[in-house]
Amino acid sequence: METFHIKGQKPLYGTVAVSGSKNAALPILAASLLTDKPVILERMPALSDIKVMCDILSALGCSVASGAEDTLIIETAGLSRHKLPYDLTGRLRGSFLVMGPLLARCGRVAISLPGGCAIGARPVDLHLKGLSALGATFKITKGIIEGTAKKLVGTKIYLDFPSVGATENIMSAAVLAEGTTIIENAATEPEIVDLANFLCSMGGRILGAGSNTVKIIGVAGLTGTRYAIMPDRIEAGTLLTAAAITGGQVTVTGIRPDTLKPITAKFSEMNIPITIQNNTVTVEPRKTMRAVDIKTLPFPGFPTDMQAPMTALLSLSEGTGIITETVFENRFMHTGELCRMGASIKVSGRNAVIEGKKSLSGAKVKATDLRAGAALVLAGLAARGDTEISDIYHIDRGYDALEKKLQSLGAEIERKP
Ligand code: UD1
Repeated sequence: METFHIKGQKPLYGTVAVSGSKNAALPILAASLLTDKPVILERMPALSDIKVMCDILSALGCSVASGAEDTLIIETAGLSRHKLPYDLTGRLRGSFLVMGPLLARCGRVAISLPGGCAIGARPVDLHLKGLSALGATFKITKGIIEGTAKKLVGTKIYLDFPSVGATENIMSAAVLAEGTTIIENAATEPEIVDLANFLCSMGGRILGAGSNTVKIIGVAGLTGTRYAIMPDRIEAGTLLTAAAITGGQVTVTGIRPDTLKPITAKFSEMNIPITIQNNTVTVEPRKTMRAVDIKTLPFPGFPTDMQAPMTALLSLSEGTGIITETVFENRFMHTGELCRMGASIKVSGRNAVIEGKKSLSGAKVKATDLRAGAALVLAGLAARGDTEISDIYHIDRGYDALEKKLQSLGAEIERKP
């Protein structure tokens, strides 16, 4: 199993471009199943989660080929199966995103309950509730969910919680349903807007994506398309945090600063100078960082995916900060590992109280999930001495060549077998 070895306390300097968004790419890949015409996706990040989703499409009979640079060409004319292989779905919660598209295209789907990062119970009741309202019926036997739908018919669906995945699944199914669907209390994340733009580029009719009421006017069929995935706001936030935690100066390019507002606003509150221009954000050299309180919330609130990286940053800020995790119930597994590096963090229920320290020290630590792994990389970059991080396959699920990007900024980080 590969590990990261980091020699800390090197301020990062330079410019780095972000890759395409994992959380936009996964539902868009799944939604390619809605057409039998070729789909060309640009700016596809090189991630193991994306590889698993491509393997799922291949297992269903589709062809997935790499084009120039970071382009993928998906041909779904050969779609011949509706059962997802367990060995793939068990590795990726995002695999559940094929449910809506398969129901809309084939009228049936069979999928095991999804896997993914171990950050809480993560049920799928809202997905099933929404798809059932459109006319699908479900049967769960021995951990396999089988869905069938003779026909999907548009309706009004109210989500109890603005679930990102449920909004995406329902939107993708409703695009080919008969009549109009309205999703109330829909998720408003930028990745929802990206999926809607993708579907509209294939001839779908969607209004209000990005607001909490999304209207989908069903169409009879979708065409092929060529579409560029939006930039990854969480990768951008992580690279900006790497600059801040090391006290360097880094410009992150190719991003949409509006999608980063909850993060850049916290940086400003922490006394970390930020410059925003068109599609770049720069973290300028800082003095002492001030501790702040953070509450994770659905967009435009503070993203739960940046909670672990911010915990690392608060560990080195002046004063005491409280993080309240409201989106997932078990997302503090990084705190134990950060404490092994000298951080002072007390977790009680959904709160973590972080007392800032002057420094952290390198240690042998373990990535327990994707963003927890990112937090340990950040802590290692700032810590005195050497840090060794194991189980970095979690990090490869969601960061495209993280160590290479950090090396280009002057970090001493190495991947070892
Ligand atoms: C997506 C992102 C993930 C991010 C999360 C919240 C992808 C591939 N992943 O995950 O990185 O952390 O949004 O921004 O895009 N819930 C239910 N019932 C459901 C569905 C969800 O109770 O049917 C709960 C979950 O347990 C969780 C909360 O709703 O507590 C948020 O989940 P959701 O927004 O669905 O996240 P994901 O789509 O899984």
